[in-house]
Amino acid sequence: MRYFIGNWKMFGVPKSINILNKINYFHSKDKNRKNYRVIITPPYTLIENYAKYFKNKSISIGSQNCYQKDQFSSDTAAVSPFMIKSAGAEYTLVGHSDNRSEGDTDKMLKNKVFFALKNKLKVVFCIGENKKEKKNKRTLSVLKKQLTKVLDKKFNKKNIIVAYEPIWSIGSGKIPTKDELKKTTIYIKKVLKSIFGKQTPAVLYGGSVDGSNVKMFKEIKEIDGFLIGGASKSSKKFIDILKNYYR
Ligand code: 13P
Repeated sequence: MRYFIGNWKMFGVPKSINILNKINYFHSKDKNRKNYRVIITPPYTLIENYAKYFKNKSISIGSQNCYQKDQFSSDTAAVSPFMIKSAGAEYTLVGHSDNRSEGDTDKMLKNKVFFALKNKLKVVFCIGENKKEKKNKRTLSVLKKQLTKVLDKKFNKKNIIVAYEPIWSIGSGKIPTKDELKKTTIYIKKVLKSIFGKQTPAVLYGGSVDGSNVKMFKEIKEIDGFLIGGASKSSKKFIDILKNYYR
């Protein structure tokens, strides 16, 4: 199974559902549709509405983050996994670099993953090195630490997906070389094996994915799908990625 996840970040109002309608229509007619899943993570404000609308359709809805507590608490503006699940989401991102940079620690992320899984959300756990870490050749050690500090062999690996997003690649148009990315993806799977045993969670790539570079990524068979930011805000750009991947 391949995953194409569109992360809308701070984008979208109720009528933006038109973008998803077009993607849904494409997927429902696509002869390759059984080979991949489309998941969109709109902002919290749209989850309930979109999840209701796309129930029993081609697109699954996820959240971009969740709070590190279970159900209800006195934390202003926090939204818990229980609330997200109750709104109809099936997935949640955890550990996006945007949120790590706002102060999410490994301990907080571990609680997020734990409570998300407890509330029957599937978790897309995001990892990635920054520019300086890459320059200092610390990529693999950074990724290993991010994975082993948070993912626990007690977690149900069937409900976990890992997304590798090099921070320097997000929104920059810069992407890793094919050799580099293949090596990194294989390494991530090796670390996941050491945590979970033989069958590892799926590993996605994210960072400036678009309709033209997806053909290069496709050649790396270890990559199980993509976490797509900018290009997911346009039905045409998102559909181009799907078309070119399966061409
Ligand atoms: P871009 O595709 O815009 O680089 O964003 C990637 C991302 O951060 C998705 O979560």
